Amino acid sequence: MTKRVAIFISGGGSNMVKLLESMTADHPARPCVVLSNNPRAAGLERAEARGVPTEVVRHQPFGKDRDAFEHAITGAISEHAPDIICLAGFMRKLTAGFVDPWRGRMLNIHPSLLPKYKGLHTHRRVLDAGDALHGCTVHEVTPALDDGPILGQAQVLVLPDDTEDSLAARVLVQEHRLYPTVLERFVRGDRRQVLLT
Ligand code: GRF
Repeated sequence: MTKRVAIFISGGGSNMVKLLESMTADHPARPCVVLSNNPRAAGLERAEARGVPTEVVRHQPFGKDRDAFEHAITGAISEHAPDIICLAGFMRKLTAGFVDPWRGRMLNIHPSLLPKYKGLHTHRRVLDAGDALHGCTVHEVTPALDDGPILGQAQVLVLPDDTEDSLAARVLVQEHRLYPTVLERFVRGDRRQVLLT
């Protein structure tokens, strides 16, 4: 049975586009909705241009009431009946109240080789540490930030003249390879870790 995938974004949605483009032909999943907390997210138009329904749930009206924001998200996606949620540049933390019911059915992509560099500004932190190796990780989402079971990683060599932007650009290329690869395996029930070099 074809699985229905919701994708959450906050910005450009380049990872979202690659996921949409991957779910075709005999792929066992299809996108059912793209949701953003940012009504100006460029990814919304990119999803609509590909015929995927979109939903916007702004977080600002809810202030610090994360539960209310997350209930609004649940309401917005319910009519699309997703089986899986892919976070793809979704920049809002989700509480256990939202994550727990989706345990084992929610993925995220993070621009570092977890467990190193959880959180933000990963490329800068890699450069500041002088690491030779960097990359990205797709993991199952748990209530702890950037902490769930790792499903796949892609590695990127750090070059001597790398800047935060040049490094981020090369990592993003690998994100676009890794996320679709992991999603298809995940939908087929294959939890073996993928390592792309
Ligand atoms: C990517 O770098 C991803 O690792 C991080 O946010 C960025 C999303 O980019 N979570 P895009 O919106 O998919 O282009």
